[in-house]
Amino acid sequence: MKKELILEIIQERWSPYAFSSAPVEEFKLKAMFEAAGYAPSCNNEQPWEFVFTTQDEKEVFDDFVGFLNDGNKVWAKNAYALILSMARTNFSYNDKTNRFAFHDTGMALNNLLLQALSLDIYVHQMGGYSVEKVKDYFKLDDDIEPVAMMAVGYLGDGSTLTPELLKRDENRRTRKSVKEFVFKNSRSNLAF
Ligand SMILES: Cc1cc2nc3c(=O)[nH]c(=O)nc-3n(C[C@H](O)[C@H](O)[C@H](O)COP(=O)(O)O)c2cc1C
Repeated sequence: MKKELILEIIQERWSPYAFSSAPVEEFKLKAMFEAAGYAPSCNNEQPWEFVFTTQDEKEVFDDFVGFLNDGNKVWAKNAYALILSMARTNFSYNDKTNRFAFHDTGMALNNLLLQALSLDIYVHQMGGYSVEKVKDYFKLDDDIEPVAMMAVGYLGDGSTLTPELLKRDENRRTRKSVKEFVFKNSRSNLAF
């Protein structure tokens, strides 16, 4: 059910399993990353980094698919692009731990996926991948932490999906009500 005051694009975003492998135009990919870069961040550190690859670079693309858990591989391999987000976990100005590095990278990511949707591009985030494989592959320094991987592309028709995934694709996920997670004055006092 649509909620009146909530931005339509927020309500319409969802994470599909059925991706088309049709190319996503480079200007759209660039706009998504530019939108990510507009996110606020603690001390304006902008701790996010992204590496992406596309089906046009098949060898690298297959390496990225290889980072994923089997449950994600089966559908994510059909997407046109795969993105890895990373966070620099130390502040650049004093090299101390940035407690907000993942938080801020998530903020950037949300910009990215809303911008994508405004251009008809869908993003499905994945935590199901091997952080160790990614660290080895990119020879990441200790202060660069892999955050999430994402499948990116136009919506597909589901013909490549198993019946179980197709069912998952057809059902939008439910949300808690603000009645359940917002409190006023104390955690024992629900706000709405
Ligand atoms: C950090 C993160 C990790 C996720 N990992 C996976 C994953 O490994 N596999 C998967 O199918 N979906 C994954 N998801 C997608 C979530 O299941 C999905 O966002 C959630 O169920 C809400 O559905 P919606 O995005 O369609 O609104 C992940 C989402 C996030 C934000």
